[in-house]
Amino acid sequence: MQIQGKVVWLTGASMGIGEALAKTLDAAGAKLILSARSEDKLQALLNSLKYPQQHRIVPLDLADGENISTVVANTPLPEGLDILINNGGISQRGLATDTPVPVQRQVMEVNYFGTITLTQALLPALLASKGMIVNIASVAGKVGGQSMSGYAASKHALIGYMDCLRAEEASKGLKVLNVCPGFVQTNISVHALTAEGKQYGRVAKSIAEGISPQACASEILRAMQKNKFEVVIGKGLSAWAPTIKRWFPVFFTRLSARKNIR
Ligand SMILES: NC(=O)c1ccc[n+]([C@@H]2O[C@H](COP(=O)([O-])OP(=O)(O)OC[C@H]3O[C@@H](n4cnc5c(N)ncnc54)[C@H](OP(=O)(O)O)[C@@H]3O)[C@@H](O)[C@H]2O)c1
Repeated sequence: MQIQGKVVWLTGASMGIGEALAKTLDAAGAKLILSARSEDKLQALLNSLKYPQQHRIVPLDLADGENISTVVANTPLPEGLDILINNGGISQRGLATDTPVPVQRQVMEVNYFGTITLTQALLPALLASKGMIVNIASVAGKVGGQSMSGYAASKHALIGYMDCLRAEEASKGLKVLNVCPGFVQTNISVHALTAEGKQYGRVAKSIAEGISPQACASEILRAMQKNKFEVVIGKGLSAWAPTIKRWFPVFFTRLSARKNIR
């Protein structure tokens, strides 16, 4: 898909991969609708873009399912909508035995239910444009590991839902791309929920050693331009994990039981 002139709704735009994607798409000539909860950060991002007059800010809380339809209803789309990028999300760190269901549910509310609620609300516009939905899932949406049961479950669920949506709507021209990054240098682990439901507050070593958000955004753009349906992005074990699991499942199962790669 060509990006120049396309209307793109991007969630999680206030920082990290979303911020890098906003800059990449701005440079590529897209017209952006930038969403996240932090309006001040979205405003600062907008001011830093090359073509700020092309873009808009629409604050949105993905955990507030009931309000998502209202936000969509109050956001006129005079030029339609070509691309929805479901990037907003939170992570989680804690053993499954320690993490109570309310914390698991919090992760699902944002990463899964909030994301599919927004997707459903925008689906008529995306079908009308024969557009594209891009989901920033994760390698954790393809394989399981230690200390991330809620996060991995939410990303597996997202990929499952989006694979079904693609199967149902491909004949009408809708494209669905699932992006599975490995570790990317953002503050995702700082904001991750612990078993107690508090913020983890630290940049994990694995994240610090990941690829840059800019490199990740460039690869996402390339996958969009090539109309891919799934792409794994990253380096090292985190990027190879889905391939290792597929071809050497016994080895992968033993490895993940031995090693906490987060
Ligand atoms: N970094 C990695 O290693 C990595 C790897 C694989 C996948 N991912 C995925 O990439 C996406 C972006 O993560 P990131 O690494 O860029 O993390 P990040 O720096 O923590 O950014 C997360 C983004 O999501 C937004 N967000 C969080 N909770 C939200 C809510 N309730 N409603 C609306 N927006 C919300 C945040 O904005 P506000 O706080 O302003 O709302 C922020 O813009 C996530 O879906 C994550 O799961 C990241």
